Amino acid sequence: MNKVLFVCLGNICRSPMAEAIFKNYVFRLGLKEYFEIDSAGTAAYHIGSKPDKRTIEVVQNKSMEIKHLARQIVLSDFTSYEYIFAMDTNNLAVLKNLYPLNGTAKLFLMRKFDPNANGSLIVPDPYYGTLEDFQKVYEILDSATARIFEGYKPGDSLLTEQELDFFKS
Ligand code: 4NP
Repeated sequence: MNKVLFVCLGNICRSPMAEAIFKNYVFRLGLKEYFEIDSAGTAAYHIGSKPDKRTIEVVQNKSMEIKHLARQIVLSDFTSYEYIFAMDTNNLAVLKNLYPLNGTAKLFLMRKFDPNANGSLIVPDPYYGTLEDFQKVYEILDSATARIFEGYKPGDSLLTEQELDFFKS
């Protein structure tokens, strides 16, 4: 079982979109039995809220489902999840600060998987932006997710040892 968690600040814009896109890949590839997927925020502002209406619009325009209520990261996430993908370097810094002694999760920056990143390490926060900014976030998350699944075969670990070495943050 591959247990995957996406993390941003508020858990209403980027990480629920990442969760929806990743779940759609898993569904399309027929891999549901091999994955558990969720998202969380580092902040508490929006606990219990639905995703931002612009995230919902962008995802539904691609005929994908999005069903998530915001939650904040908890310490048990660092042992329950194997792979935690942070949306930006601030999120990653918070995760590293919280990381417990018994933690087992591997931390990553999602943007490192985007072949079109041009050296950028972040999925830009679209909260104070426009619908177009949310569409850009979608494109980033979609190409990063496609890269993550390159070479994946049913029953494999999500990332190879080589990829772990290369991408681990
Ligand atoms: P997210 O976006 O981290 O992608 O969910 C944000 C959502 C809310 C806020 C900031 C970013 N906020 O300041 O409330």
